[in-house]
Amino acid sequence: MLKSTLLYLSRSQGFKSFLTRFKSFNAVTRRFVAGEDLPDAIEAIRALNSKKISATFDHLGESITAEPETLREVREYQRMLAQIGSTGIDSNVSVKLTQIGLDISRDLCYRNARSIVEEAKRFGNFVRIDMEESSKTTSTLEIFKQLRREFDNVGIVVQAYLYRTEDDIKSLLEMRARIRLCKGAYKEPPAVAFSSKKDVDDNYVKLMRILLVSGIYHGIATHDENMIDATKRFAKENAVTPDQFEFQMLYGVRRDLQESLVGQGFRMRVYVPYGKYWYPYFMRRLAERPANVWFVLRNMLRG
Ligand code: FDA
Repeated sequence: MLKSTLLYLSRSQGFKSFLTRFKSFNAVTRRFVAGEDLPDAIEAIRALNSKKISATFDHLGESITAEPETLREVREYQRMLAQIGSTGIDSNVSVKLTQIGLDISRDLCYRNARSIVEEAKRFGNFVRIDMEESSKTTSTLEIFKQLRREFDNVGIVVQAYLYRTEDDIKSLLEMRARIRLCKGAYKEPPAVAFSSKKDVDDNYVKLMRILLVSGIYHGIATHDENMIDATKRFAKENAVTPDQFEFQMLYGVRRDLQESLVGQGFRMRVYVPYGKYWYPYFMRRLAERPANVWFVLRNMLRG
């Protein structure tokens, strides 16, 4: 109930305006968002790198409906890639297709995505395409596949809560796609997605097993210790070594576990979002864990 409400409010500009009137609310968003500008995010990534944690940059933005804005996003990603190159930080980049035109035209979106992937190639870097609501899954996969036919430095995300994902993974592995497996963060109807945590978790483990023995380097993105233990166990039983995959987590979430996995010899990559359009991302993080809401309220009241 709280989760659905928060996911609903993540689309409400009115609620955002209400919350941002509180100075302390803006401060608290820093727990999950590295800052509003690129230098803030670079600083956050340096701190992670010093703990042997890799990163993936995300310039926050989604559901953009004006072409010039999508071009600004492309330039921001190009700037980001150049900065990774010049600072030598250990990071790749993640992008959402609705940020670069998926809601405007498929052709525009493909051209924009291609510019980013091509620029990343020039810098020897890698682009991960995030996955959004189920209404975008087919078009996102189609654009990804089109890019993958031309480039080897582009990867995709799949969501374990969708019924279709097992089939999607099969066709993605045929083209040797690098995949990030996550549970899924959007509000989806029972017609397309598992609704109970147990079903999502069971599917996650099933898909993780398919990925781990595929001989391709994938990202296992979760903070769920049961999923992480299942991955470690399965990898060991199947002689999949820790350098053949990576765990991934979100900035500010389970920092203790991030460091502990690195200490155990596993690879860890943290998703570092920054930018002015942080509101929907932040609300999805609150929805994932009710305790986060109390954390925010406590800090707001203190401020
Ligand atoms: P689950 O939600 O079951 O949580 C398990 C435990 O993890 C919780 O009990 C809590 O301890 C901890 N935890 C989880 N979320 C927390 C939070 N926000 N704050 C504090 N603790 C938390 N989704 C998507 O739809 N498309 C995408 O492209 C991506 N990309 C992506 C990249 C990376 C690197 C990660 C880690 C995640 C995503 N996600 C995503 C989000 C993902 O789908 C999912 O919503 C979250 O990771 C939460 O799911 P968990 O697997 O952590 O398990």
